[in-house]
Amino acid sequence: MPQTAVLTGLGAYLPPRRVTNEELADRFDTTDEWITARTGIRTRRWADPGISTGDLAVEAGHRALKSAGLTPEPGAVDLVVVATTTPDHLCPATAPNVAARLGLGGAAAFDISAVCSGFVYALETAANAVLAGRAGTALVIGAETYSTILNPEDRTTSVIFGDGAGGVVVSAGEDGEPGALQGFDLGSDGTQKDVIYIPAGGSRQRADGARPAPGDEFFTMQGRKVFLSAVQRMSESSQALLGRIGWPTDSIGHLVAHQANIRILRAVAEQLGIPAERAVVNLDQVGNTSAASIPLALSDAAARGTLAVGERVLLTAFGGGLTWGSAALTWPDIVAA
Ligand code: UT7
Repeated sequence: MPQTAVLTGLGAYLPPRRVTNEELADRFDTTDEWITARTGIRTRRWADPGISTGDLAVEAGHRALKSAGLTPEPGAVDLVVVATTTPDHLCPATAPNVAARLGLGGAAAFDISAVCSGFVYALETAANAVLAGRAGTALVIGAETYSTILNPEDRTTSVIFGDGAGGVVVSAGEDGEPGALQGFDLGSDGTQKDVIYIPAGGSRQRADGARPAPGDEFFTMQGRKVFLSAVQRMSESSQALLGRIGWPTDSIGHLVAHQANIRILRAVAEQLGIPAERAVVNLDQVGNTSAASIPLALSDAAARGTLAVGERVLLTAFGGGLTWGSAALTWPDIVAA
């Protein structure tokens, strides 16, 4: 049995089309000033027509494998997990086709649906498979094309969400090795399922037999309610995890929280007692990319040289479900691709 699961590769991909606040202000009753002040977002990427979540996931997966020094071929990876809210189809999962397109045919492959917490859920799933000796190496991808589910008449969600994909490779390793995943904390509150949801398209709407109302196929969110829960749950989950693994808050080198909103990030850092400058921020450039958010933020921070080898990194996320989750690791000696 391996002693621990270690992060050994990191890659990210953003679709090329930049959508600025100014462009959105031409389309909606909003302004650059409102979006910047209320969210911290200045621009985001939206995939061009014809580009799906799976397409972005394949690009990010290639880069993560390259970063880990792995040749994409059958047997290189035992497990592929794709976390997404915007799968290519309701059925089947996106991951098997991503695995096939990456040349990883034969690997176990499935999706995880935990909205913006999906990457942390997927990371724990992969780490557990490695720890149990069921996988030597796993590829975990968070990928989203929210532009395909945004209501073109809803200014609030349309200014927040962006598209993108990020992936990591998790492999069997030694305790104390840089990159070692030290622990996780996951949770949910399904009584709040309607706070973030897509009303139509699933079996609930089909079972009811009613025709979907106009707009029911789009993503909906009760922003203010989500805001308060996001701060509370990410803070509490982080504290629970740090307490369990015995890491004092002041030993954390960087906090990499789900990039929901700059005000949420600042509030979580403050509640945890982590100085704001140690909270990684890239939402100004990419917006809220849901399950892709944390690997995109990690990749951006790694590319800028923000994360030092061996430093303690805390990940925390919150999303629809409601779901939340946190993960702790030491930063590995890798080059993000
Ligand atoms: O990814 C995980 C899940 N998502 C999140 O974590 C997002 C959490 N929520 C948020 O980030 C914030 O709640 C939002 C950014 C969505 C909204 O910010 P807020 O400060 O909570 O604003 P609000 O919803 O309380 O709305 C304030 C006002 C409203 O007008 P009235 O009722 O005061 O007249 C909205 O209609 O702002 C209005 N508004 C806008 N105005 C200009 C909402 N969206 C816009 C907009 N431009 N795009």
